[in-house]
Amino acid sequence: MKLQIRRLAHGLGAEVRGADLSNLDTAAFDAIHAAWMEHLVLVFPEQRLTGLRFAAFSERFGDLEILGSYQGLDEYMDPDCRGLMTVTNRNIRNEPSRTRAVGRKWHADRSFVPQAPIGTFLYCREIPEVGGDTLFSNQYRAYDTLSEGLKGVLDGLWAVHDVLGRQDSLVKALSPEELARKRLMDPPTAQPVVRVHEVTGKKALYVSEAVTTAILGMTEKESRPLLEYLFRHSVKPEFTYRHHWRVDDVVMWDNRCAMHLALADFDPAQFRTMLRTSVVGPVTGHALKEY
Ligand code: SIN
Repeated sequence: MKLQIRRLAHGLGAEVRGADLSNLDTAAFDAIHAAWMEHLVLVFPEQRLTGLRFAAFSERFGDLEILGSYQGLDEYMDPDCRGLMTVTNRNIRNEPSRTRAVGRKWHADRSFVPQAPIGTFLYCREIPEVGGDTLFSNQYRAYDTLSEGLKGVLDGLWAVHDVLGRQDSLVKALSPEELARKRLMDPPTAQPVVRVHEVTGKKALYVSEAVTTAILGMTEKESRPLLEYLFRHSVKPEFTYRHHWRVDDVVMWDNRCAMHLALADFDPAQFRTMLRTSVVGPVTGHALKEY
């Protein structure tokens, strides 16, 4: 299998052609893994996969996360593979989809749990006529371009990541019972502000406007100016790649060193549906039950 790898942006991202993801030999898998480490986001156009084959490809990179009952997302999970989920704005059982507006603020997936996924995979099944794009930002670049003085301040700091801190439409739609349940399941979590990637050894900024609410040991008010600066800095256009989806694209990204944002830049009367998997990573944080 001869892979053709083409960079997509100065910031991050590469397109990989010539790969049949349902049938990768070890050499092709190793080449894809190496390209992932180098480019952070990989795009595989024109893949013809069943959902299960897509999940099997993801699983080559680690155990799949199972969100199902834990997140009240049972009906979004494939009955034959609990790690395979549908993200869609189509109604589910005549109810507005709970996954219709995920990812509308910059974030690294589930950084609000101690063992966040290292990688996430989306497989595009349908996309509006225009829009429905996803933005990605390179967090190695974000860290590397800070002053030595600020790097010195940030190295060794921890931040509070709180899923309920994000105050988006999905959180606002939760009933008081659901809120209480979520608070119990996902207490605020401390994560390092600068994350060292366990494969590349490089440092990346690991805070996001979606869920990072404070620097540990400081009040939210004290933390806000520094966090606001980092939120703006971390998504400078020169660190980013904007993906325009086509049906049958598979995109995978590295949550340890890249953030993403799902734009609502499309007609909500049109449908956007993705299959989604994510792979479990090491424990990098700890829950703050007393916070
Ligand atoms: C996500 O934030 O995980 C979803 C990204 C997308 O749908 O583009």
